[in-house]
Amino acid sequence: MCLRTWILGLVLGCSALPVIAAEPMVLKFSHVVAPNTPKGLGAEKFAELAAQYTAGAVRVEVYPNSSLYKDKEEMEALQLGAVEFIAPSLAKFGPLGVRAFEVFDLPYIFDSAEALHKVTRGPLGQEMLALLEPRGIKGLAFWDNGFKSFSANRPIRRPEDLRGLSMRIQSSKVLDAQMRALGASPRVTAFSEVYQALAAHVVDGTENPHSNFYTQRMNEVQSHMTLTNHGYLGYAVITNAKFWNGLPGSIRAALERAMRDATEYTNTIARAENEKALEAVRSAGTTEIHEPTEEERIAFKRALLPVHKAMAGWIGEGLIEDIYDETGFDPDALE
Ligand code: LMR
Repeated sequence: MCLRTWILGLVLGCSALPVIAAEPMVLKFSHVVAPNTPKGLGAEKFAELAAQYTAGAVRVEVYPNSSLYKDKEEMEALQLGAVEFIAPSLAKFGPLGVRAFEVFDLPYIFDSAEALHKVTRGPLGQEMLALLEPRGIKGLAFWDNGFKSFSANRPIRRPEDLRGLSMRIQSSKVLDAQMRALGASPRVTAFSEVYQALAAHVVDGTENPHSNFYTQRMNEVQSHMTLTNHGYLGYAVITNAKFWNGLPGSIRAALERAMRDATEYTNTIARAENEKALEAVRSAGTTEIHEPTEEERIAFKRALLPVHKAMAGWIGEGLIEDIYDETGFDPDALE
C-alpha cells in the first residue's frame, strides 16, 4: 500500500482506513508560450499545487508552446471539453463574443501594474469574468504577463517610424485600431507562427512583453526594440463550466485553492521574469534597445490615446469609464 493511497483516504475523508486509490484524474492545461515565462511557470505551479492539495487525486498535465493547441483551437477545445484549463491573453476573447476584455488592450490605459491590479483584483475584474458564463466558460483568475514593447527591423523613435510597416497583432480589434492609428498595417498571426512570420518578412514587426519576445527568440529576427510600455498583456485562466461544476466538491475546493495560490505566485514573479528576459535580450546583443525620451513617450501617447474614443462603441463606453474611475486614469493628461 503506497503512502499516497493512505493520504488520499484521509484527505477525501472517506475513512481512516486506506482505500485503494483510483487512477488520478488527469486534467490538461494547454497554453501557447514557453515554460519559462510568467504563464508557463504559473501553469506548472498550478499543476504542482493541484497534486499537493488533492494528495495526488488530480494530475494536471501542462502542454506549453502550442504543443497541444494553437490560439484559436484552444478556445474551441475548451468549449468541447477536450482540454480543462487554458489561459488565453485578454486580447483573444473577441472571437468568443466577449469584446469587453479588449478594454485591457487600450494603449496606455494602465499607468502601472498597481493601477491594473485595482481592476483585476477588484469587483470590476470579477464582473468581467462573469461575462464568460453564458458561453459555458468559468473564469478562474487573471494572470499577469506585463507591458509591451514595439519591435521592428528599424529604429522606432517616434510614432511615424511604424508607418507603412506590417505589424503582427493578436486577434483584437483594439490592437488593430492601435496599429492603424500609427499608420501600420496590422496582421493577425497565431503566436506559434510569429517567429517564422518575422523571419520570412511576412510581417515587419510586433509588440510583446519581453518574456514572450525572448523565449520565442524574436530577438534573432528583430534588430530594434523600443521600451514603449504602451499596452498591457495578461491572461484569464478559464475552464469549461460544465466540467467545473460537475467536479466533486472536495476536489473543486482543492483546485480553487491551488488556483488562488498559483495566481499569487504568477503575479508575484511576472515583473521579474520580464526584467530578466530584457536583460537576456540585451546580453544576446542582437537587438538594439531604445529607452524613449520623455518627448518621444508623449508623442506615442498623443498618437495612441484617440484609440480609446474610437473603440468606445466596440468595447462599451461605460466599461472604459468604469476603468478610468477605478484607476484614476485621466485620458486627457499626456504626462
Ligand atoms: C501573443 O499572442 O502574443 C500572446 O497572447 C501570447 C501569450 O499567450 O502570451
